[in-house]
Amino acid sequence: MKRVAVLTSGGDAPGMNAAIRAVVRTGVSFGFELLGVRHGYAGLMAGDFIPLGARDVGGIIQRGGTVLGTSRCPAFLTEPGQQAAARQLRDRDVSGLVVIGGNGSQAGAHALASLGVAVVGVASTIDNDLPGSDVTIGATTALDIALESIDRLRVTASAHGRVFLVELMGRTCGYLALIAGITGGAEAIVIPEIPQDPEKIATSVREAYARGKSHAIVVIAEGAERNADALSQYFTQHAERLGFELRVIKLGHVQRGGSPCTFDRLTATLLGTAAVEQLRAGRHGVLLGMIDGQVTPTALRDVIGRRKPLDERLIRLAQALAE
Ligand code: ADP
Ligand code: F6P
Repeated sequence: MKRVAVLTSGGDAPGMNAAIRAVVRTGVSFGFELLGVRHGYAGLMAGDFIPLGARDVGGIIQRGGTVLGTSRCPAFLTEPGQQAAARQLRDRDVSGLVVIGGNGSQAGAHALASLGVAVVGVASTIDNDLPGSDVTIGATTALDIALESIDRLRVTASAHGRVFLVELMGRTCGYLALIAGITGGAEAIVIPEIPQDPEKIATSVREAYARGKSHAIVVIAEGAERNADALSQYFTQHAERLGFELRVIKLGHVQRGGSPCTFDRLTATLLGTAAVEQLRAGRHGVLLGMIDGQVTPTALRDVIGRRKPLDERLIRLAQALAE
């Protein structure tokens, strides 16, 4: 019998549970034995495994977070840490591992593959910065949450004629801020990919009021060269000259905690199932993602150390529509 283990690693993302469920149920249907690894690579190094049957993953498809737990694990960055993790799998006769996670987690999957572990990655991070998938599991739910918050902020901003600076997550990637900014009708969008002069942002805000708007929403990525704190400090210092004050809202982890939307549940289900199919077919060392609507494998060695660029057309659109 084939024994397959599954873990979630890095930042949790809505849809991870749907992926775990798909891995387990598909594996069971193939006659495999399934093991869950708790708390990502930390649990793998420590040998923290639990058996998983089809019923153990009931009632989780709609839940955010990850029932297996996750971690950031610096010890796994070292070769002894990776050797220890590979040994735990060998000792239990595990013949395949599914790693559900983002950039760093897939770098970890590649390290294990280099040690001879048959590993398949599933692209999951709210940041959507992972090459090998047009949209990663969790990003769409995080966007829906951000958008709802922006819509609500606009209501109160309009009532008072206020300016709101809304900071979104994304690490060094501006995807969440760009898409939430476009779909939330922001007056200005600030992302790491495009350095912006604070005076230009102030001009966008002032022009919005001059055109008769009763509010201004600036969506800013946490990884922007000048983040929300820096920008707010600049605007406060120059408040008199600029003619407006602003309020800062950092959405932070709220974005990660939601129940996965339809798209994330479906993507997670498709990718989780495909991961086990890959292992059954003897194919591994790949990351599974969705490209042009299709489940697509990309060699892990082609994914690691790379960042997915933002769509230039969307950047231009954001600039054009902020009028
Ligand atoms: P994410 O997977 O969401 O990008 P991290 O970057 O925090 O999250 O990565 C999760 C974990 O993956 C790290 O804590 C570490 O254990 C492991 N990891 C990250 N980068 C590497 C790497 N270059 N080589 C091996 N393991 C890595
Ligand atoms: O990678 C997902 C993410 O939510 C990033 O957007 C954010 O910068 C980071 O994780 C926050 O990490 P933590 O939850 O460890 O504070």
